[in-house]
Order: sequence, then structure tokens, then C-alpha cells
Amino acid sequence: MNATSISPQSLAIHGGEPVRVTLLPYGRQSVDEADIRAVVEVLRSDWLTTGPKVAEFEEAFAARVGAAHAVSFSSGTAALHAAAFAAGLKPGDEAITTPLTFAATANCVLYQGATPVFADVCHDTLNLDPEQIGSKISARTRALLPVDYAGHPADLTPILEIARRHGLVVIEDACHALGAEYEGKPVGSIADMTVFSFHPVKHITTGEGGMVATNNLQFAETLRRFRNHGISSDARQRQSAGHWYYEMVLLGFNYRLSDFACVLGLQQLKRLDGNLTRRREIAARYLAAFSQIPAVIPPAVQPGVDPAWHLYPIRLDLEKLTAGRGEFFRALRAENIGVNVHYIPVHLHPYYRSQFGYKGGEYPVAEHAYERLISLPMFHAMTEQDVEDVIAAVSKVANHYAS
Ligand SMILES: Cc1ncc(COP(=O)(O)O)c(C=O)c1O
Repeated sequence: MNATSISPQSLAIHGGEPVRVTLLPYGRQSVDEADIRAVVEVLRSDWLTTGPKVAEFEEAFAARVGAAHAVSFSSGTAALHAAAFAAGLKPGDEAITTPLTFAATANCVLYQGATPVFADVCHDTLNLDPEQIGSKISARTRALLPVDYAGHPADLTPILEIARRHGLVVIEDACHALGAEYEGKPVGSIADMTVFSFHPVKHITTGEGGMVATNNLQFAETLRRFRNHGISSDARQRQSAGHWYYEMVLLGFNYRLSDFACVLGLQQLKRLDGNLTRRREIAARYLAAFSQIPAVIPPAVQPGVDPAWHLYPIRLDLEKLTAGRGEFFRALRAENIGVNVHYIPVHLHPYYRSQFGYKGGEYPVAEHAYERLISLPMFHAMTEQDVEDVIAAVSKVANHYAS
């Protein structure tokens, strides 16, 4: 492009001024000085792992999500694996899930030697469509695995109703949805088991970490054993009871979360409500701005739902644009907006294609959405200026490519 034709309104990808000087990431943790002091204190204590902070974090977490039990894990993925085990998934079984998720959701079914079966998503929320589940149920189906995509709870009432009718366990992947509400109830209090992640881009972080919330004591006991080699007691329980004897009663793993990670989680949990309020404010600002841009479709919110807004995935109306998603994405990146895409539908990953013969076209709603999705920055520490920058960049790029 000729240098004389570059104006501040030219897209940065064409040599114009970017909206921001530095890259705004799509998600980011917030760790404060009090968090650091609390972690250091535990590092100086007797217990680095499976000490008092594990139980304290689990109790506070269970209370916050309205569940009778919460069991911590070394990651959300480990928590999903444990939930798949506790649900009794084994070779020959099937579990029905959404293709529009992070691969870990379906992988946990594979870890158990069972088969993930996908059902397409609703066009509006992009969550597992209850109406698509029926035709996927077979004599082998044992579990349903809905995901709360972007922090919007899956449609749990019809999903639980289907599960009860067919004797299935519902494992809700709520890795995006800590603090979300569905029909007035907190996510974590509704499904048979609800799985959370504490990866740094999530609402609260422990570095790596995860949790399963459940109201079922038997599931909770199995989950606790599974994360500790299948052993029936932990080292601290044995020390306080003054005996050494233990038995391994099932084949488990070491999926424990350390005491210093749990104290970080405890600290972060205190700020969850503030974080959710901020994310909801940002979502409201985005909605007001993007409703004015014809080519941008903001995420839908079902009545009776209060999403937790882990992500803010817009969809492009490609018929109203002269550019495809790829160019639109690159143009936003050039403006220093750290956009992302969530997700490549799981069945389209090379591993799933080669193992199960997927070719594309099997889940048209998820695939159509995938080609149009762009996740905008969404995290509680975003400043007003950050929010303005995202809106300015999306408007600038959408205006440029408006057809
Ligand atoms: C929907 C979903 N499920 C599971 C996971 C896995 O969580 P973790 O990264 O804590 O293992 C993630 C992580 O990003 C996720 O987004």
C-alpha cells in the first residue's frame, strides 16, 4: 500500500495505527500480594501437599457452589477423568457430549476406554442441544457430558430429565462456569457431578487445578480415592490417627492438588463475586456496543440463566462482510487485541478423525459456528480503557470489511 494513503483509520494490518500499543490478552489471572503472602506461609509450614488447606479449600468451594462435597484435583482434566471413573465408564460404554468444547471433555471418556459420542449444539447458546441427545442414546450409553460453553450453563433441566429417564449419570463440564446460575441455582449444585478448572485464564486460579462438586457421598468417596492412587485414606489422616496401615482399593492416580495451590484457591475464592460482577459489566458493555454492528452477533443468553462469562465469543455474519473469519481475526490481532478461537470442534481434530473416521459435516450447527467464532478479551482485571479498545477495534475492523 502507498504510504500516503495510510491514515489513522487504516487498519493496522494495512499499515495504519493500531488501536492499542500493547497486546491485550484474551484472558489473564489476577494474583495479589495477599495471595502471595498466603502461599509463602504454607511453603514455610509442615504440609506442602494434602495438608489442612486442601480440606479448607474444598469446604469453602462446596459452600460457594451449593454442593455437599467438593474434591480437588491437580487439573480440570484430572477432575474430568475422575468423574468419568466415578460414573462407572468402562470399555464398551458411551458418553454423549458436545463437539464444541476443549478436547479434554471428550478425552476423559477415552481415558476410561469408553467412546465419546457427539450430539450437535443449539444454534443460539452453542451448548449441547437436548433435542439432539435422544437419537444418540444406545444400550451402551452411560453418561451425558454437557459443557457450559463460555460460562453459559447448558440446558440442565431437559438434560437431567433425559438422564433420569435412561438411568444415565450427568457430568457437567463447568470449567468455564464457576459462579454461573441456572434457574436460580448455582452451577455445581445441579448435575450429578460438576467439574471446574483453575487454569490461569479461569475465574479463580491455583496455577493448575480442578474440582469436582457433587451431592452424592458415594461419588465423593470414589473421587477422593481415585486422586490418591486408589488408597482408602490419606497420609495426614493416618498421621493424626497414629497408624500406618492403608489399603489400595481401586486403580487410581496421583491427581492431588498441593496445599500451597489450595491456599491460593482459598484466597482467590474470596474475590470470585467481585470478578463475576466485573465480567458481567464488561459483557453488558460489549452487548450494547456490538448490537449496533450488523456483522457481529453477540453471544445469546437464555432466560433464567446468569452466565459466568469466562469467554466472550462473538460470531461473524460472513454474508455481511467482504472478509472471512481468518482475515478479520488477523486484523484484530494487528490492532493488538488478543483474540482467540474456541473451539475447533473436537471431532475435527486429526486424532478423532483418524480414530473414529469423522470427515466433517457430521455436526453442522457446531461446524457452522466454528467458522464464524472469535473470542474477544474477557477477564475481570480489564480496565475501562481495555474495554473501549476492544469495542473500537471491532468497530474499526467491521466497518472496514462491511459489504
Ligand atoms: C471446557 C473445558 N474442559 C476442560 C478443561 C481442562 O481444564 P484444565 O486446563 O484445568 O485441565 C478446559 C480447560 O481449559 C476447558 O475449557
